[in-house]
Amino acid sequence: MSEQLDSRLTKPLRKKDFDLYCLILVGAYQLQNTAIADHAAVTLTVEAARHLGKQWACGLVNAILRNPQALLEPSVEAQFEAPSWLIRSIQHHYPDAADNIFRTNITRAPMTLRVNQNRQPAMSFAQILLDQGIPTVPGELSNALTLVTPQAANTIPGYSKGWFTVQDEASQRVAHLLAPKPATRVLDACASPGIKALQLLEAHKDIHLTAIDVDVTRGFYGVSESRRLGLPFELREGDATLRNWWDGEMFDSILVDAPCTGTGTLRRKPDIKLHRSHEDMFDLQRKQRELLSNLWNMLASGGTLLYSTCSILPDENDSVIQHFLDQTTDASTVPIAADWGRATLFGRQCLPIEGGPDGFFYSRITKL
Ligand SMILES: C[S@@+](CC[C@H](N)C(=O)[O-])C[C@H]1O[C@@H](n2cnc3c(N)ncnc32)[C@H](O)[C@@H]1O
Repeated sequence: MSEQLDSRLTKPLRKKDFDLYCLILVGAYQLQNTAIADHAAVTLTVEAARHLGKQWACGLVNAILRNPQALLEPSVEAQFEAPSWLIRSIQHHYPDAADNIFRTNITRAPMTLRVNQNRQPAMSFAQILLDQGIPTVPGELSNALTLVTPQAANTIPGYSKGWFTVQDEASQRVAHLLAPKPATRVLDACASPGIKALQLLEAHKDIHLTAIDVDVTRGFYGVSESRRLGLPFELREGDATLRNWWDGEMFDSILVDAPCTGTGTLRRKPDIKLHRSHEDMFDLQRKQRELLSNLWNMLASGGTLLYSTCSILPDENDSVIQHFLDQTTDASTVPIAADWGRATLFGRQCLPIEGGPDGFFYSRITKL
């Protein structure tokens, strides 16, 4: 919208008139995005300029807002508040879905709960919530419930008793796809803050879980969550591109929930659009490759490695797996049969859905 306004100003407003600049933006926003009558939006914005003591600007405000059609057709970048490298990449990879992704990314993300089925089935919990005036919609996973109207987690019944965890359904799928066998050794190699590690412990009480992360400071949330949920979560500091933290015993399952651009979660973290650059994506790709190639040495024969990202960019997803498979003779992907997301060469890609889950990628690899 600033881009549109700048195009209408023959010369930029002075620094001390920044209040006026913001005021015109508010007026333009009302014209374009609200049900406020056009004449009311214009008149009140002009009036507000007068209140600011900027009588001289009333004509200017009026001229700009009276003719909103003359405001330039916003660029895709301006319309969807995203940088051009990301817009181009999404258009390139998802020509059929790009506009939908852009539109979804500027909507509010849903609030989904992972119901702790050790306490009660999801349907019983949904009834408890409904009785308290909190309607929910069941997800595709049996213990996922989405709140019709989001509210603070600690105001939802059962919060302090550990009856649920706030977790997007796309993120919940990771542990379901890893599905470790009873009493096996499991590694969560990028575990901070610990949401998926806690989910694994909640669903598979008898696994031997090692959870490491290069940044344990982010793990404080997981540690406090583990107390609330009554789960024995321990996060160790370790760089998963190295082996100095490893005791040499093979793991039966490894989760690589890799650091990524987070481009599937822009509704929740819109700052990514400002802070992440195209170059960052290639740095992350290098890290993702390093993680896979190092962790593969720790997987037992017949074991499963699940690679996941909350990115929708194939450079961080299929390309990383392709590179890994090209270098690794004893690896083979296991197809993920599902009626959600879209099949890719080496896994499954979810795109963000309006009112639904985030964008996520999953690839399941077995050691021959
Ligand atoms: C997507 S987040 C993981 C989220 C986590 N699995 C959860 O569900 O709460 C990626 C994590 O990878 C970690 N990371 C980045 N480089 C790493 C490395 N070399 N070794 C281990 N962890 C790393 C980051 O610190 C970050 O916590």
